[in-house]
Amino acid sequence: MSDNKVVLNYGGNSYEYPIVESTLGDRGIDISKLRDQTGLITLDLGYKNTGATISEITYLDGDKGELYYRGYPIEQIADKSNFTEVMYLLLHGELPTQDQFSKFEAGIKNYNYIADEMKRLIDVFPRSAHPMGVLSSLTSALTAFNPKAVDVNSPSDLDHAAEMLIAKFSHLCAWTYRKKLGLPINHGDNSLNYVENFYRMCFRRPNEEFHLDPVVVGALDKLLILHADHEQNCSTSTVRMVGSAHTGLFASVSAGISALWGPLHGGANQAVIEMLEMIEQDGGDVAKYVEKAKNKDDNFRLMGFGHRVYKNFDPRATIIKKAADDILNSLGIEDKALDIAMQLERVALEDEYFVSRKLYPNVDFYSGIIYRALGIPTEMFTVMFALGRLPGWISQWKEMRLHNDPIGRPRQVYQGAQKRDYIAMNAR
Ligand code: CMC
Repeated sequence: MSDNKVVLNYGGNSYEYPIVESTLGDRGIDISKLRDQTGLITLDLGYKNTGATISEITYLDGDKGELYYRGYPIEQIADKSNFTEVMYLLLHGELPTQDQFSKFEAGIKNYNYIADEMKRLIDVFPRSAHPMGVLSSLTSALTAFNPKAVDVNSPSDLDHAAEMLIAKFSHLCAWTYRKKLGLPINHGDNSLNYVENFYRMCFRRPNEEFHLDPVVVGALDKLLILHADHEQNCSTSTVRMVGSAHTGLFASVSAGISALWGPLHGGANQAVIEMLEMIEQDGGDVAKYVEKAKNKDDNFRLMGFGHRVYKNFDPRATIIKKAADDILNSLGIEDKALDIAMQLERVALEDEYFVSRKLYPNVDFYSGIIYRALGIPTEMFTVMFALGRLPGWISQWKEMRLHNDPIGRPRQVYQGAQKRDYIAMNAR
């Protein structure tokens, strides 16, 4: 017995697999020789027990409800930092000095416009198109206007690619918003910071003077920070997987956007509001929907509840719940959806089904209420998530390439037909 290796007894032989140490949390069994030595592979549907990589970016402890960006607890970051600084931290590993911050911000502002041809691309989408589909397509299309592949051996090339995507992506997110509302599209304004600039690009009306509301800017900044990275979630794993084939940064991120769109992942923020509206329109009977969620013959799930990793509480949800209260109060908005959300939370948290399965409100449960208070259409909520998650995707892509991770290529346990001979159609 030793705690630095695992011994597998199989077929009369004994095999040893080393433990890979961590600085915090799960240690891993290195099974890279397993198949060669034993002819066996591991099977772990949904990768619930599988470490896909070694990373230094984000740590989360699902039992304790802890989340750290590069070692800094999310509560401190959300309270004291700003989104631009968080982007730098995730990308470079350390908090910036004033000089590093200014250079980073200037690097982003250097790319604060988009090629005019991109406007023609967005024009051809129908207004009814879902903003996430538009965003994913436009992100992929950006490659056409920036055809030079990133040289991952050049730190300055990596920095420029990240800064370029960060700048241009905020335009694409704002443009999908303008498209949805039928408003003309804008370029950025370099006198503003990143979040202010995004806010202005979204909300400035063609014939009105524009005022930055500090409450709205503060709320957006906090939401973006809380979504900035979350280690190996579905969309980030997608970005890493696509990038592992040495696919370019923009195309890899475009794939991540599609993964994020799903209602079990980032699309849950849209699904939560739709669910709360449905409950309200149906008379507000919260208990009825809690029963539906528990019924195994009913496909209904309580959206915004549960998490693959958090089995105690989602620390982001705690911060967002408080922010939602503050923002509704300061904007003087009363939202019936918030009342229903609070009732739902109360009923579910006292119910044995949710308690025994450790199902708690997640980050998406309250974020939609804030977006709604800011006047953002429901279909745009996941785009907001994508803007927040962008620095995480880029940092993870960069780390994967710098660590020279091999191409992602899982195996399978095949249970299909055995070898058989083709039968001509007239003989079937
Ligand atoms: N409502 C009702 N039952 C649920 C829910 C829910 N929201 N979530 C999980 N369960 C039940 C599930 O039916 C299963 O029950 P049983 O053990 O009796 O079969 C048990 O809890 C475990 O669920 P699971 O699906 O095996 O857990 P998972 O880790 O595979 O899924 C999840 C995690 C987030 C996909 C899931 O909890 C879910 O579908 N939640 C609703 C969608 C949602 O809010 N997603 C946002 C996640 S946070 C933001 C992000 O990551 O993007």
